[in-house]
Amino acid sequence: MIKVNAGGCSSFVKDAEYKEYVEKALSAFDVLESETGAGNDFLGWKHLPTQTPDSLISECEAIKDLWASKGVDLVVVIGIGGSYLGAKCAIEALSHSFAKQLASKNGPEIVFAGHNLSEEYICELMDLMKERNVAAVVISKSGTTTEPAVAFRLIKQYIETVYGAKEAAERIVAVTDAHKGALKSLSTQEGYKTFVIEDNVGGRFSVLTPVGILPIVLAGFDMRAMLKGAAEMEKCCGERSEENPAIAYAAIRNLLYSKGKKVEILVSYNPKLQYLGEWWKQLYGESEGKDGKGIFPASVSFTTDLHSMGQYIQDGERMLMETVVTVEKSNRDMTIANDPQNLDGLNFLTGKHVEECNAMAELGTKLAHIDGGVPQISVSIEKIDEFNLGGLFYFFEKACGISGYILGVNPFNQPGVEAYKKNMFALLGKPGYEEQAKALRDRLK
Ligand code: PA5
Repeated sequence: MIKVNAGGCSSFVKDAEYKEYVEKALSAFDVLESETGAGNDFLGWKHLPTQTPDSLISECEAIKDLWASKGVDLVVVIGIGGSYLGAKCAIEALSHSFAKQLASKNGPEIVFAGHNLSEEYICELMDLMKERNVAAVVISKSGTTTEPAVAFRLIKQYIETVYGAKEAAERIVAVTDAHKGALKSLSTQEGYKTFVIEDNVGGRFSVLTPVGILPIVLAGFDMRAMLKGAAEMEKCCGERSEENPAIAYAAIRNLLYSKGKKVEILVSYNPKLQYLGEWWKQLYGESEGKDGKGIFPASVSFTTDLHSMGQYIQDGERMLMETVVTVEKSNRDMTIANDPQNLDGLNFLTGKHVEECNAMAELGTKLAHIDGGVPQISVSIEKIDEFNLGGLFYFFEKACGISGYILGVNPFNQPGVEAYKKNMFALLGKPGYEEQAKALRDRLK
């Protein structure tokens, strides 16, 4: 279903070098499969597609039905990082581009909060909430992350004020740790329905847990199809073979990195996949960027960004590689009409699908960028739907684990994320951080 093609790298690497990196990828695969590598207590994501019980989806559907019976038309999903990006990516990819503006609505609108600390953003969200019938999902594995905790405090107070504490308990659902963390204690005290994020699944690998499943179901998408697509890739990416797309992708990107291609740009030609880039950047950036190593993940949306980033990619510093997510089939049809006057000179396109222009832009850009010194990896899916997206999530996760082990890092921790948090707590006056606060303020003078 997911195909990886490294043909666009052939002028940059020799066959023998690729073989060497496939061997490294196979060894890394063995470490991941035998669960003997660094971070091996965070491998719960590996079998989620085949081991997630259908009852979990039914539980999410029950919440959807309950909220529909109350007339809820706005669900605020609160979370950050791995507790935000997977659901955001799936909902953006699967939704009509103009869902908000269309008159006919299919279920509640999903909006996100807790992924920033902007006062303006939360005030404007409240403006929207005042016009709508609201419920909220708060997602935090640790239950202690500042951004979602601040947003949740405000949104909880709003919901309690408008609907009363008893009704609020039916309009708030939490996704968090089974036992620990402030969100777990609060949920128990307030009587919220809760879903569990297992200890052995890290945030950025959690899209196929309730972290992603609940918002995706609430948005009206087919989670069973998504898990089916992911299960197909669980099988295919479990094969110890050069044909395994996760092994092929991990091998080629590490080989290119060894040749100075330090930045990998994830490219898509459908704006619905913009957040796939955001999700992928977190997955690879947080998994690999450590110990002074790692490919820097970036993303662009073409053809839009060919008119902004195209110049640099074609002609700037040559440390780039591209991974293009190719979508083979458009979900919609539109052909270009003949214009008898032909003042724009475009009649040569008459009868062609718009997507054919997109496909030719993709091929033309591929060749131009290769000529400009940017190797291209292609990852293709048949179309944008739940099944293929599920497959893509699993494929990138599996390849990430293999890739991190080739690089020689622990792909499943994120020690670097703590540094800013400590400084922020100190500067905000959190008890216990007094000395650090003084030292930081001296440095900021
Ligand atoms: O991947 C990760 O571990 C992080 O991005 C977390 O998902 C993010 O920091 C949010 O953490 P939490 O879910 O504990 O609030």
